[in-house]
Amino acid sequence: MTPITVLVSVDSNSILLGAKEFVTYLRNLVANYNMDSLVTVLETVSLGSYNGVTVQVLPDDVYYSIKSKDDVRKIVEEHLLKGRQVWDLTIDKSSIKPAEKFELKEIRIVTRNIGAIDPKNIGEYIARDGYFALSKALKMKPEEVIKEVKDSGLKGRGGAGFPTGLKWELTAKVQADQKYVVCNADEGEPGTFKDRLIMEGDPHSVIEAMAIAGYAVGASKGYIYIRGEYYNSVENLRKAIKDAYEYGFLGEDILGSGFSFDLTVRLGAGAYVCGEETALLESIEGKSGKPRLKPPYPPESGLFGKPTVINNVETLANVPQIILNGASWFKSIGTPNSAGTKVFCLAGDVNRRGMVELPMGVTVREVLYGFGGGVRGGRELKMVQTGGLAGTFIGPDKLDTPLDYDSMRKYGVSLGSGVILAIDSSHCAVDIALNTMEFFRHESCGKCTPCREGTRLACEILEKMTKLEATQEDLNYLEEIANLTADASFCGLGQSINVPLLSLINNFRDEFLKHVNEKECPVNLCKKPEKKSKAFIK
Ligand SMILES: Cc1cc2nc3c(=O)[nH]c(=O)nc-3n(C[C@H](O)[C@H](O)[C@H](O)COP(=O)(O)O)c2cc1C
Ligand code: SF4
Repeated sequence: MTPITVLVSVDSNSILLGAKEFVTYLRNLVANYNMDSLVTVLETVSLGSYNGVTVQVLPDDVYYSIKSKDDVRKIVEEHLLKGRQVWDLTIDKSSIKPAEKFELKEIRIVTRNIGAIDPKNIGEYIARDGYFALSKALKMKPEEVIKEVKDSGLKGRGGAGFPTGLKWELTAKVQADQKYVVCNADEGEPGTFKDRLIMEGDPHSVIEAMAIAGYAVGASKGYIYIRGEYYNSVENLRKAIKDAYEYGFLGEDILGSGFSFDLTVRLGAGAYVCGEETALLESIEGKSGKPRLKPPYPPESGLFGKPTVINNVETLANVPQIILNGASWFKSIGTPNSAGTKVFCLAGDVNRRGMVELPMGVTVREVLYGFGGGVRGGRELKMVQTGGLAGTFIGPDKLDTPLDYDSMRKYGVSLGSGVILAIDSSHCAVDIALNTMEFFRHESCGKCTPCREGTRLACEILEKMTKLEATQEDLNYLEEIANLTADASFCGLGQSINVPLLSLINNFRDEFLKHVNEKECPVNLCKKPEKKSKAFIK
């Protein structure tokens, strides 16, 4: 009989859904049914989808989503014992029943190894052309490496979309005794988990890219700044770095090229603002994570005042494939101004939440329905937030907007870090605005008054609105605060709070007006606080 492999997605998301217990139970059942010699149960990293724990049965290539031990038993007793697929647990387009069908154009560049290799086994990475790009780059001149990255059109996936090759070129041009490469793995954006899954599932691709960047710009030291609670990513990265040193891909005289590069992991304490590049540098230097005045920018004066390249995890994970396959291959994917793919994180009220890599220019609708299978529970879609919590809220009329670096300028829709948050008709726009502003109030580092006070005032007005106690004047003042805070704040955090707030007000003005004029919440979520009887007032 053909041997069967059962892969169970055991990553930081699915562990919370019981993945580890399911693996133990699955192995016990396999042993009880005397199938050990035929069935191998392996733990793997993210398999992309998060409604339950994802299980893949090979060679049949069937994906299941399991939520209980009963589900595990069904797979063993039906699929493994009798060869019958368990349809009600199967993840595929027919089980998702999309409201509208879309052909998903999934292209896996940065996620190509995720789920396909054991991230803790450097041999498996090498077997899939790992470190071939580094070896190739070391035979090129540094300026040729930079040209390849520049010509590829790769832009930063951390949110700002700055051309990566240009950033490297600016850093390379500065003369200095010491330069650095920093990987921004802070990933504080709510709803974003792609960097974590890339580092968990394919840590060597980030390490290889950082060594290539170091060679290109003349840096001999690198830091990966990662939030401390990303335990699995940290563990896998540390193991991968250790192995890369042992194999001679890091350290002194890499592959006999004369180039040396050291890499260290630094843990952050989980402040959103520490994802801002200069706050991140302060944090690595051991100071309080607060943004610096720019200019000078990091390529000129970065870590410890030295020229520094800072790139996002996803940006870096593209680099080895660009060096191996060439700039024109990469440019042929996506749109003319936005080359390559984007890893999207789909969250909220959809049938299927998870991560998917698609070519730049894909529409919001394609991600939402093609991957997400439409809105959960057959409810109506009310709005979608794209790009992260600092991104735009759009109504269902904008679902056909292509997501790329031009979408903000052309259609007012953010690409940002690639989050797509679906919100169904049971939610209130004012309540969502309050939730969003509470996040920014909490994460404001307090260094500058406009952001510190602006986020506080916005929350106060929105709280009043959710208690149906605000007036039209309050709404006008809220809009004024949003603009003033954005204009006068010191860093990108305060500078972007107007984007979610004003897009909500503009798209759902009727709803805001109902709260302030008619003292009514259309979905009945916001209520006037109950008056206490005088007897209880001291
Ligand atoms: C408040 C704030 C938070 C940010 N958080 C992140 C983050 O978590 N990860 C990230 O890569 N970039 C983040 N950025 C963007 C970085 O400042 C920087 O642009 C990015 O790391 C550059 O890398 P890239 O060119 O590869 O995108 C943040 C920016 C701001 C203003
Ligand atoms: S804008 Fe906000 S987060 Fe940025 S420096 Fe000012 S207070 Fe700090």
